[in-house]
Amino acid sequence: MTGLRVLTLLLSVLLGWASCHPVPGRKNFNKLLLISFDGFRWNYDQDVDTPNMDRLAREGVKAKYLTPPFVTMTSPSHFTTISGRWIEDHGVIHNMMFNTETQWKYSFKTTQNKTEWWDNGVLPLWITAQRQGRKTASFHYPGGGAKYKGEAVQRSLVESYTHPDSNETEWRENIDIVMNWFTKEDFDFVTLYYGEPDNVGHKFGPETENRRVIIQQIDRTIGYLVEAIERHSLTKNLNVIITSDHGMTTVKKEPNVTEILLTNYIKFRDLVKFDIVDYGGFGMLLPKPGQEEAVYQALKNAHPHLNVYKKEEFPERFHFAKHQRVLPIVMYADSGYNINGRLIIYFNKGDHGFDNVHMDMKTIFRAFGPDFKKNHIAEPFDSIHIYPLMCKLLGVTPEPHNGSLAITQEMLVDAYDHLSSYKHSLEFLVFVLNRNPNLHLYLNTHL
Ligand SMILES: *[C@@H]1O[C@H](CO)[C@@H](O)[C@H](O)[C@H]1NC(C)=O
Ligand SMILES: *[C@@H]1O[C@H](CO)[C@@H](O)[C@H](O)[C@H]1NC(C)=O
Ligand SMILES: *[C@@H]1O[C@H](CO)[C@@H](O)[C@H](O)[C@H]1NC(C)=O
Ligand SMILES: *[C@@H]1O[C@H](CO)[C@@H](O)[C@H](O)[C@H]1NC(C)=O
Ligand SMILES: [Zn+2]
Repeated sequence: MTGLRVLTLLLSVLLGWASCHPVPGRKNFNKLLLISFDGFRWNYDQDVDTPNMDRLAREGVKAKYLTPPFVTMTSPSHFTTISGRWIEDHGVIHNMMFNTETQWKYSFKTTQNKTEWWDNGVLPLWITAQRQGRKTASFHYPGGGAKYKGEAVQRSLVESYTHPDSNETEWRENIDIVMNWFTKEDFDFVTLYYGEPDNVGHKFGPETENRRVIIQQIDRTIGYLVEAIERHSLTKNLNVIITSDHGMTTVKKEPNVTEILLTNYIKFRDLVKFDIVDYGGFGMLLPKPGQEEAVYQALKNAHPHLNVYKKEEFPERFHFAKHQRVLPIVMYADSGYNINGRLIIYFNKGDHGFDNVHMDMKTIFRAFGPDFKKNHIAEPFDSIHIYPLMCKLLGVTPEPHNGSLAITQEMLVDAYDHLSSYKHSLEFLVFVLNRNPNLHLYLNTHL
Protein backbone atom coordinates (compact mmCIF):
# COMPACT_ATOMS: atom_id res chain seq x y z
CA MET A 1 0.00 0.00 0.00
CA THR A 2 1.45 3.35 -0.91
CA GLY A 3 1.58 6.15 1.57
CA LEU A 4 -0.93 8.13 -0.44
CA ARG A 5 -3.46 5.31 -0.45
CA VAL A 6 -3.06 4.83 3.27
CA LEU A 7 -3.57 8.53 3.80
CA THR A 8 -6.69 8.53 1.65
CA LEU A 9 -8.03 5.55 3.55
CA LEU A 10 -7.17 7.17 6.84
CA LEU A 11 -8.83 10.42 5.88
CA SER A 12 -11.96 8.67 4.72
CA VAL A 13 -12.10 6.69 7.97
CA LEU A 14 -11.70 9.89 9.93
CA LEU A 15 -14.23 11.78 7.83
CA GLY A 16 -16.66 8.90 8.18
CA TRP A 17 -16.13 8.94 11.91
CA ALA A 18 -16.58 12.70 12.01
CA SER A 19 -19.83 12.66 10.07
CA CYS A 20 -21.53 10.20 12.41
CA HIS A 21 -19.82 11.59 15.50
CA PRO A 22 -19.51 15.34 15.17
CA VAL A 23 -16.98 17.00 17.44
CA PRO A 24 -18.10 17.88 20.97
CA GLY A 25 -20.40 20.89 21.13
CA ARG A 26 -21.78 20.29 17.66
CA LYS A 27 -23.75 17.15 18.40
CA ASN A 28 -27.23 17.09 17.02
CA PHE A 29 -29.14 16.73 20.25
CA ASN A 30 -32.48 15.01 20.22
CA LYS A 31 -35.66 16.96 20.76
CA LEU A 32 -37.46 16.91 24.09
CA LEU A 33 -41.13 16.91 25.05
CA LEU A 34 -42.02 17.40 28.72
CA ILE A 35 -45.63 16.48 29.53
CA SER A 36 -47.29 17.16 32.86
CA PHE A 37 -50.61 15.66 33.94
CA ASP A 38 -51.58 17.75 36.96
CA GLY A 39 -52.15 15.85 40.21
CA PHE A 40 -51.17 12.38 38.95
CA ARG A 41 -50.46 10.48 42.17
CA TRP A 42 -47.59 7.98 41.95
CA ASN A 43 -49.83 4.90 42.21
CA TYR A 44 -52.84 5.93 40.11
CA ASP A 45 -51.90 3.32 37.52
CA GLN A 46 -52.04 0.45 40.01
CA ASP A 47 -55.77 -0.10 40.40
CA VAL A 48 -56.81 0.43 36.80
CA ASP A 49 -55.76 -0.98 33.42
CA THR A 50 -53.14 1.24 31.79
CA PRO A 51 -51.80 -0.78 28.86
CA ASN A 52 -50.05 2.18 27.24
CA MET A 53 -48.27 3.29 30.38
CA ASP A 54 -47.29 -0.32 31.04
CA ARG A 55 -45.85 -0.59 27.55
CA LEU A 56 -43.88 2.62 28.06
CA ALA A 57 -42.42 1.22 31.27
CA ARG A 58 -41.07 -1.67 29.19
CA GLU A 59 -39.80 0.61 26.46
CA GLY A 60 -38.40 3.29 28.71
CA VAL A 61 -37.83 4.46 32.26
CA LYS A 62 -40.24 4.39 35.17
CA ALA A 63 -39.33 5.86 38.54
CA LYS A 64 -40.88 4.09 41.52
CA TYR A 65 -42.20 7.52 42.43
CA LEU A 66 -41.21 11.18 42.32
CA THR A 67 -41.11 13.56 45.30
CA PRO A 68 -42.37 17.05 44.49
CA PRO A 69 -41.13 20.12 46.37
CA PHE A 70 -43.10 21.63 49.23
CA VAL A 71 -45.59 23.29 48.92
CA THR A 72 -47.16 20.47 46.89
CA MET A 73 -49.09 22.84 44.66
CA THR A 74 -49.33 23.33 40.89
CA SER A 75 -47.48 26.55 40.02
CA PRO A 76 -44.73 26.24 42.67
CA SER A 77 -44.00 22.62 41.74
CA HIS A 78 -44.09 23.14 37.97
CA PHE A 79 -41.68 26.02 38.29
CA THR A 80 -39.26 23.88 40.28
CA THR A 81 -39.35 21.27 37.50
CA ILE A 82 -38.65 23.84 34.78
CA SER A 83 -35.97 25.71 36.76
CA GLY A 84 -34.29 23.14 39.02
CA ARG A 85 -34.61 25.54 41.94
CA TRP A 86 -36.30 25.21 45.31
CA ILE A 87 -39.47 27.19 45.78
CA GLU A 88 -37.82 29.57 48.27
CA ASP A 89 -35.37 30.50 45.49
CA HIS A 90 -37.70 30.86 42.51
CA GLY A 91 -40.37 32.69 44.49
CA VAL A 92 -43.48 31.17 42.89
CA ILE A 93 -44.67 30.21 46.38
CA HIS A 94 -48.38 29.63 45.72
CA ASN A 95 -50.92 29.14 42.95
CA MET A 96 -52.43 32.46 43.92
CA MET A 97 -50.67 35.72 43.39
CA PHE A 98 -51.45 38.20 46.16
CA ASN A 99 -50.80 41.69 47.36
CA THR A 100 -50.91 42.17 51.12
CA GLU A 101 -51.48 45.93 50.76
CA THR A 102 -54.35 45.93 48.28
CA GLN A 103 -55.57 42.55 49.66
CA TRP A 104 -55.96 41.36 46.09
CA LYS A 105 -55.67 37.67 45.26
CA TYR A 106 -55.41 36.38 41.72
CA SER A 107 -56.47 32.88 40.76
CA PHE A 108 -54.17 30.29 39.20
CA LYS A 109 -55.40 31.06 35.69
CA THR A 110 -55.16 34.83 36.10
CA THR A 111 -51.50 34.55 37.17
CA GLN A 112 -50.57 32.80 33.94
CA ASN A 113 -50.14 36.09 32.07
CA LYS A 114 -48.66 37.95 35.02
CA THR A 115 -44.93 38.26 34.53
CA GLU A 116 -44.47 39.83 37.96
CA TRP A 117 -45.55 36.59 39.66
CA TRP A 118 -43.07 34.38 37.78
CA ASP A 119 -40.06 36.49 36.94
CA ASN A 120 -38.09 36.69 40.19
CA GLY A 121 -34.58 36.33 38.81
CA VAL A 122 -34.54 32.55 38.27
CA LEU A 123 -34.60 31.60 34.59
CA PRO A 124 -36.78 28.71 33.46
CA LEU A 125 -35.31 26.25 30.95
CA TRP A 126 -37.24 27.69 27.99
CA ILE A 127 -35.33 30.96 28.23
CA THR A 128 -31.93 29.38 28.95
CA ALA A 129 -32.35 27.02 26.00
CA GLN A 130 -33.45 29.84 23.69
CA ARG A 131 -30.39 31.86 24.64
CA GLN A 132 -28.30 28.88 23.58
CA GLY A 133 -29.94 28.62 20.19
CA ARG A 134 -32.74 26.12 20.85
CA LYS A 135 -36.34 26.70 19.75
CA THR A 136 -38.74 26.29 22.64
CA ALA A 137 -42.49 26.34 23.20
CA SER A 138 -45.00 25.97 25.99
CA PHE A 139 -48.50 24.57 25.62
CA HIS A 140 -50.51 25.50 28.73
CA TYR A 141 -47.53 24.78 31.01
CA PRO A 142 -47.62 26.98 34.16
CA GLY A 143 -45.24 29.93 33.81
CA GLY A 144 -44.96 29.60 30.03
CA GLY A 145 -47.00 32.76 29.46
CA ALA A 146 -44.72 35.13 31.41
CA LYS A 147 -41.66 37.06 30.29
CA TYR A 148 -38.31 36.48 31.98
CA LYS A 149 -35.86 39.38 32.05
CA GLY A 150 -37.94 40.79 29.22
CA GLU A 151 -37.82 37.63 27.11
CA ALA A 152 -40.91 35.60 26.22
CA VAL A 153 -41.01 31.89 25.41
CA GLN A 154 -40.81 31.74 21.59
CA ARG A 155 -44.22 30.07 21.28
CA SER A 156 -46.61 30.04 24.19
CA LEU A 157 -50.25 29.08 24.54
CA VAL A 158 -51.90 30.03 27.83
CA GLU A 159 -54.95 28.15 29.08
CA SER A 160 -58.11 30.20 28.62
CA TYR A 161 -60.58 30.70 31.46
CA THR A 162 -63.09 28.49 29.70
CA HIS A 163 -60.67 25.74 28.73
CA PRO A 164 -62.33 22.33 29.17
CA ASP A 165 -60.17 20.10 31.33
CA SER A 166 -61.09 16.67 30.11
CA ASN A 167 -62.07 16.81 26.44
CA GLU A 168 -60.22 13.82 24.99
CA THR A 169 -60.57 15.03 21.40
CA GLU A 170 -58.96 18.32 22.33
CA TRP A 171 -56.19 16.47 24.19
CA ARG A 172 -55.35 14.64 20.95
CA GLU A 173 -55.51 17.81 18.90
CA ASN A 174 -52.99 19.37 21.27
CA ILE A 175 -50.63 16.45 20.68
CA ASP A 176 -50.99 16.91 16.91
CA ILE A 177 -50.21 20.62 17.25
CA VAL A 178 -47.09 19.86 19.29
CA MET A 179 -45.95 17.20 16.80
CA ASN A 180 -46.23 19.75 14.01
CA TRP A 181 -44.20 22.22 16.03
CA PHE A 182 -41.43 19.62 16.16
CA THR A 183 -41.60 18.48 12.54
CA LYS A 184 -42.75 21.49 10.51
CA GLU A 185 -41.17 24.25 12.61
CA ASP A 186 -38.21 22.41 14.08
CA PHE A 187 -38.87 23.23 17.74
CA ASP A 188 -36.35 21.54 20.06
CA PHE A 189 -38.10 21.68 23.43
CA VAL A 190 -41.83 21.78 24.15
CA THR A 191 -43.69 21.59 27.47
CA LEU A 192 -47.28 20.35 27.37
CA TYR A 193 -49.66 20.56 30.33
CA TYR A 194 -52.98 18.85 31.08
CA GLY A 195 -55.24 19.85 34.00
CA GLU A 196 -56.26 16.25 34.74
CA PRO A 197 -56.40 14.12 36.82
CA ASP A 198 -56.19 17.02 39.31
CA ASN A 199 -59.73 18.28 38.71
CA VAL A 200 -61.35 14.91 39.04
CA GLY A 201 -59.21 14.18 42.12
CA HIS A 202 -60.48 17.36 43.81
CA LYS A 203 -64.08 17.01 42.76
CA PHE A 204 -64.71 13.33 43.41
CA GLY A 205 -61.71 12.24 45.50
CA PRO A 206 -58.77 10.04 44.53
CA GLU A 207 -60.29 6.71 45.61
CA THR A 208 -63.24 6.84 43.22
CA GLU A 209 -64.37 5.33 39.96
CA ASN A 210 -64.31 8.81 38.40
CA ARG A 211 -60.58 9.01 39.04
CA ARG A 212 -60.00 5.55 37.55
CA VAL A 213 -61.96 6.59 34.46
CA ILE A 214 -59.86 9.73 33.90
CA ILE A 215 -56.66 7.69 34.34
CA GLN A 216 -57.86 5.44 31.52
CA GLN A 217 -58.46 8.51 29.38
CA ILE A 218 -54.92 9.68 30.13
CA ASP A 219 -53.60 6.24 29.26
CA ARG A 220 -55.39 6.31 25.88
CA THR A 221 -53.94 9.77 25.30
CA ILE A 222 -50.45 8.43 25.98
CA GLY A 223 -51.17 5.66 23.46
CA TYR A 224 -52.20 8.31 20.98
CA LEU A 225 -48.98 10.20 21.70
CA VAL A 226 -46.84 7.15 20.89
CA GLU A 227 -48.76 6.67 17.62
CA ALA A 228 -48.39 10.34 16.76
CA ILE A 229 -44.64 10.21 17.38
CA GLU A 230 -44.39 7.26 14.96
CA ARG A 231 -46.64 8.94 12.39
CA HIS A 232 -44.41 12.03 12.45
CA SER A 233 -41.23 9.91 12.19
CA LEU A 234 -39.98 11.32 15.47
CA THR A 235 -39.30 8.00 17.19
CA LYS A 236 -35.54 8.21 16.73
CA ASN A 237 -35.05 11.84 17.67
CA LEU A 238 -37.63 12.77 20.28
CA ASN A 239 -37.22 12.09 24.00
CA VAL A 240 -40.36 12.31 26.14
CA ILE A 241 -40.66 12.86 29.88
CA ILE A 242 -44.09 12.38 31.45
CA THR A 243 -44.44 13.70 34.96
CA SER A 244 -46.67 15.67 37.31
CA ASP A 245 -46.62 18.20 40.11
CA HIS A 246 -48.04 16.43 43.17
CA GLY A 247 -50.39 13.67 44.31
CA MET A 248 -53.82 13.80 45.92
CA THR A 249 -55.37 12.60 49.16
CA THR A 250 -58.93 12.21 50.41
CA VAL A 251 -60.09 15.20 52.48
CA LYS A 252 -61.13 14.29 56.01
CA LYS A 253 -64.45 15.80 56.98
CA GLU A 254 -66.88 16.08 59.84
CA PRO A 255 -68.44 14.18 61.50
CA ASN A 256 -65.48 11.77 61.39
CA VAL A 257 -62.87 14.36 62.33
CA THR A 258 -62.76 17.79 63.89
CA GLU A 259 -62.09 20.13 61.02
CA ILE A 260 -59.54 22.92 61.32
CA LEU A 261 -61.27 26.30 61.56
CA LEU A 262 -58.84 29.06 62.49
CA THR A 263 -61.48 31.49 63.71
CA ASN A 264 -62.10 29.11 66.61
CA TYR A 265 -58.66 30.16 67.93
CA ILE A 266 -57.96 33.69 66.68
CA LYS A 267 -60.03 36.79 65.98
CA PHE A 268 -59.19 37.63 62.38
CA ARG A 269 -60.50 41.19 62.64
CA ASP A 270 -58.21 42.05 65.56
CA LEU A 271 -55.07 40.07 64.79
CA VAL A 272 -54.72 39.37 61.07
CA LYS A 273 -53.93 41.85 58.34
CA PHE A 274 -53.89 39.40 55.43
CA ASP A 275 -54.34 35.66 54.99
CA ILE A 276 -53.98 32.91 52.43
CA VAL A 277 -56.11 30.05 53.78
CA ASP A 278 -59.07 28.01 52.52
CA TYR A 279 -56.74 26.55 49.90
CA GLY A 280 -56.12 22.92 50.83
CA GLY A 281 -53.68 21.84 53.51
CA PHE A 282 -51.45 24.92 53.46
CA GLY A 283 -51.88 28.46 54.77
CA MET A 284 -50.06 31.69 55.63
CA LEU A 285 -50.97 34.70 57.77
CA LEU A 286 -49.70 38.25 57.97
CA PRO A 287 -50.52 39.39 61.53
CA LYS A 288 -51.33 43.01 62.25
CA PRO A 289 -48.32 45.02 63.47
CA GLY A 290 -47.21 43.75 66.88
CA GLN A 291 -49.55 40.74 66.86
CA GLU A 292 -47.24 38.08 65.45
CA GLU A 293 -46.48 36.47 68.81
CA ALA A 294 -50.15 36.52 69.81
CA VAL A 295 -51.19 34.80 66.58
CA TYR A 296 -48.42 32.24 66.88
CA GLN A 297 -49.19 31.41 70.52
CA ALA A 298 -52.91 31.11 69.83
CA LEU A 299 -52.43 28.73 66.92
CA LYS A 300 -49.37 26.64 67.64
CA ASN A 301 -51.15 24.04 69.80
CA ALA A 302 -54.66 24.83 68.64
CA HIS A 303 -55.49 21.69 66.68
CA PRO A 304 -53.75 18.29 66.88
CA HIS A 305 -53.50 18.12 63.07
CA LEU A 306 -52.31 21.66 62.43
CA ASN A 307 -48.59 22.50 62.24
CA VAL A 308 -47.85 26.18 62.82
CA TYR A 309 -44.49 27.92 62.47
CA LYS A 310 -42.98 31.33 62.46
CA LYS A 311 -41.51 31.81 59.02
CA GLU A 312 -37.90 31.79 60.27
CA GLU A 313 -38.48 28.53 62.18
CA PHE A 314 -40.13 26.69 59.32
CA PRO A 315 -38.28 23.37 58.81
CA GLU A 316 -35.26 23.76 56.55
CA ARG A 317 -35.96 20.46 54.78
CA PHE A 318 -38.86 22.05 52.88
CA HIS A 319 -36.60 24.65 51.25
CA PHE A 320 -39.69 26.82 51.20
CA ALA A 321 -39.80 29.64 53.72
CA LYS A 322 -36.80 31.83 52.92
CA HIS A 323 -38.46 33.78 50.14
CA GLN A 324 -39.61 37.31 50.98
CA ARG A 325 -43.11 36.55 49.72
CA VAL A 326 -43.66 33.95 52.43
CA LEU A 327 -45.78 35.52 55.19
CA PRO A 328 -44.65 35.54 58.87
CA ILE A 329 -46.90 32.67 60.03
CA VAL A 330 -46.73 29.49 57.93
CA MET A 331 -49.01 26.48 58.47
CA TYR A 332 -49.62 23.10 57.05
CA ALA A 333 -52.12 20.49 58.10
CA ASP A 334 -51.59 16.78 58.50
CA SER A 335 -52.50 14.77 55.45
CA GLY A 336 -56.17 15.09 54.56
CA TYR A 337 -56.98 18.10 56.77
CA ASN A 338 -57.98 21.39 55.20
CA ILE A 339 -57.05 24.72 56.71
CA ASN A 340 -60.21 26.82 56.91
CA GLY A 341 -60.27 30.48 57.95
CA ARG A 342 -63.56 32.05 59.00
CA LEU A 343 -65.95 29.44 57.64
CA ILE A 344 -65.80 25.89 56.39
CA ILE A 345 -66.40 26.64 52.75
CA TYR A 346 -64.56 24.06 50.68
CA PHE A 347 -66.22 21.48 48.51
CA ASN A 348 -63.22 19.41 47.52
CA LYS A 349 -63.24 15.69 48.23
CA GLY A 350 -59.55 15.39 47.45
CA ASP A 351 -56.68 17.82 47.97
CA HIS A 352 -52.91 18.40 48.06
CA GLY A 353 -50.52 20.99 49.46
CA PHE A 354 -49.49 18.66 52.29
CA ASP A 355 -46.03 17.59 53.47
CA ASN A 356 -44.15 16.02 50.56
CA VAL A 357 -43.02 13.07 52.73
CA HIS A 358 -46.56 11.63 52.57
CA MET A 359 -46.92 8.92 49.95
CA ASP A 360 -50.20 10.47 48.80
CA MET A 361 -48.28 13.59 47.71
CA LYS A 362 -45.77 11.63 45.60
CA THR A 363 -46.17 11.70 41.87
CA ILE A 364 -44.96 10.05 38.64
CA PHE A 365 -41.91 10.11 36.43
CA ARG A 366 -41.80 8.25 33.11
CA ALA A 367 -39.46 8.73 30.19
CA PHE A 368 -38.77 7.18 26.81
CA GLY A 369 -36.98 7.96 23.60
CA PRO A 370 -33.60 7.42 21.97
CA ASP A 371 -31.53 8.60 24.94
CA PHE A 372 -33.37 6.61 27.63
CA LYS A 373 -32.72 3.06 28.74
CA LYS A 374 -35.41 0.48 28.14
CA ASN A 375 -37.24 -1.46 30.82
CA HIS A 376 -35.47 0.55 33.49
CA ILE A 377 -36.91 1.12 36.96
CA ALA A 378 -35.39 4.17 38.62
CA GLU A 379 -35.28 4.58 42.38
CA PRO A 380 -37.46 7.37 43.79
CA PHE A 381 -36.02 10.86 43.41
CA ASP A 382 -36.88 14.53 43.92
CA SER A 383 -38.38 16.42 40.98
CA ILE A 384 -35.63 19.04 41.35
CA HIS A 385 -33.30 16.64 39.53
CA ILE A 386 -35.37 16.68 36.31
CA TYR A 387 -33.89 20.04 35.32
CA PRO A 388 -30.24 18.96 34.91
CA LEU A 389 -31.46 15.87 33.08
CA MET A 390 -33.38 18.01 30.59
CA CYS A 391 -30.34 20.27 30.11
CA LYS A 392 -28.18 17.23 29.42
CA LEU A 393 -30.70 15.88 26.87
CA LEU A 394 -30.89 19.22 25.07
CA GLY A 395 -27.17 19.96 25.25
CA VAL A 396 -27.90 23.16 27.14
CA THR A 397 -25.53 24.55 29.78
CA PRO A 398 -27.68 24.83 32.92
CA GLU A 399 -28.15 27.89 35.12
CA PRO A 400 -27.14 27.47 38.77
CA HIS A 401 -29.64 24.99 40.21
CA ASN A 402 -30.32 22.71 43.18
CA GLY A 403 -30.58 19.42 41.31
CA SER A 404 -27.95 16.86 40.47
CA LEU A 405 -27.40 15.05 37.21
CA ALA A 406 -25.77 12.24 39.18
CA ILE A 407 -29.26 11.22 40.38
CA THR A 408 -30.88 11.04 36.96
CA GLN A 409 -28.22 10.28 34.38
CA GLU A 410 -28.24 6.56 35.12
CA MET A 411 -31.51 6.51 33.18
CA LEU A 412 -29.70 7.40 30.00
CA VAL A 413 -28.21 4.90 27.58
CA ASP A 414 -24.46 5.02 27.74
CA ALA A 415 -23.85 8.17 25.81
CA TYR A 416 -21.20 8.03 23.16
CA ASP A 417 -18.23 9.60 24.87
CA HIS A 418 -17.12 12.12 22.29
CA LEU A 419 -13.99 13.35 23.95
CA SER A 420 -12.54 9.92 24.53
CA SER A 421 -13.39 8.66 21.04
CA TYR A 422 -11.85 11.78 19.57
CA LYS A 423 -8.72 11.11 21.60
CA HIS A 424 -8.68 7.46 20.51
CA SER A 425 -8.80 8.38 16.86
CA LEU A 426 -5.83 10.72 17.30
CA GLU A 427 -3.94 7.93 19.03
CA PHE A 428 -4.87 5.65 16.14
CA LEU A 429 -3.50 8.19 13.68
CA VAL A 430 -0.21 8.42 15.56
CA PHE A 431 -0.09 4.63 15.72
CA VAL A 432 -0.58 4.28 11.96
CA LEU A 433 1.96 7.01 11.26
CA ASN A 434 4.55 5.35 13.43
CA ARG A 435 4.06 2.04 11.64
CA ASN A 436 4.37 3.65 8.22
CA PRO A 437 7.63 5.53 7.89
CA ASN A 438 6.80 6.27 4.24
CA LEU A 439 3.52 7.85 5.12
CA HIS A 440 5.21 9.79 7.86
CA LEU A 441 7.68 11.10 5.33
CA TYR A 442 4.85 11.84 2.89
CA LEU A 443 2.91 13.80 5.50
CA ASN A 444 6.01 15.69 6.57
CA THR A 445 6.78 16.81 3.06
CA HIS A 446 3.27 17.31 1.69
CA LEU A 447 1.15 18.67 4.53
C1 LIG B 1 -53.25 35.76 28.23
O1 LIG B 1 -52.86 36.67 27.23
C2 LIG B 1 -53.32 36.32 25.93
C3 LIG B 1 -52.70 37.28 24.94
O2 LIG B 1 -52.83 38.61 25.39
C4 LIG B 1 -54.84 36.35 25.93
O3 LIG B 1 -55.30 35.96 24.65
C5 LIG B 1 -55.36 35.38 26.96
O4 LIG B 1 -56.76 35.47 27.07
C6 LIG B 1 -54.76 35.64 28.32
N1 LIG B 1 -55.14 34.55 29.19
C7 LIG B 1 -55.40 34.69 30.48
C8 LIG B 1 -55.76 33.46 31.22
O5 LIG B 1 -55.36 35.76 31.05
C1 LIG C 1 -64.17 18.66 22.41
O1 LIG C 1 -63.18 19.21 21.57
C2 LIG C 1 -63.49 19.11 20.20
C3 LIG C 1 -62.28 19.56 19.41
O2 LIG C 1 -61.73 20.73 19.94
C4 LIG C 1 -64.74 19.92 19.89
O3 LIG C 1 -65.05 19.82 18.52
C5 LIG C 1 -65.87 19.38 20.73
O4 LIG C 1 -67.01 20.19 20.56
C6 LIG C 1 -65.49 19.36 22.21
N1 LIG C 1 -66.52 18.64 22.96
C7 LIG C 1 -67.13 19.16 23.99
C8 LIG C 1 -68.11 18.28 24.67
O5 LIG C 1 -66.87 20.28 24.39
C1 LIG D 1 -66.77 8.80 57.78
O1 LIG D 1 -66.26 7.50 57.91
C2 LIG D 1 -67.10 6.53 57.35
C3 LIG D 1 -66.52 5.16 57.70
O2 LIG D 1 -65.13 5.11 57.41
C4 LIG D 1 -67.21 6.74 55.84
O3 LIG D 1 -68.03 5.76 55.26
C5 LIG D 1 -67.79 8.12 55.61
O4 LIG D 1 -67.79 8.37 54.23
C6 LIG D 1 -66.95 9.17 56.31
N1 LIG D 1 -67.59 10.46 56.17
C7 LIG D 1 -66.94 11.52 55.80
C8 LIG D 1 -67.76 12.79 55.68
O5 LIG D 1 -65.75 11.55 55.54
C1 LIG E 1 -29.95 26.30 45.50
O1 LIG E 1 -29.13 26.81 44.46
C2 LIG E 1 -28.88 28.18 44.52
C3 LIG E 1 -28.10 28.57 43.28
O2 LIG E 1 -26.93 27.85 43.16
C4 LIG E 1 -28.14 28.51 45.81
O3 LIG E 1 -27.96 29.90 45.92
C5 LIG E 1 -28.95 28.00 47.01
O4 LIG E 1 -28.25 28.20 48.20
C6 LIG E 1 -29.27 26.53 46.84
N1 LIG E 1 -30.14 26.09 47.92
C7 LIG E 1 -29.82 25.08 48.73
C8 LIG E 1 -30.82 24.76 49.79
O5 LIG E 1 -28.79 24.44 48.62
ZN1 LIG F 1 -55.06 20.79 42.45
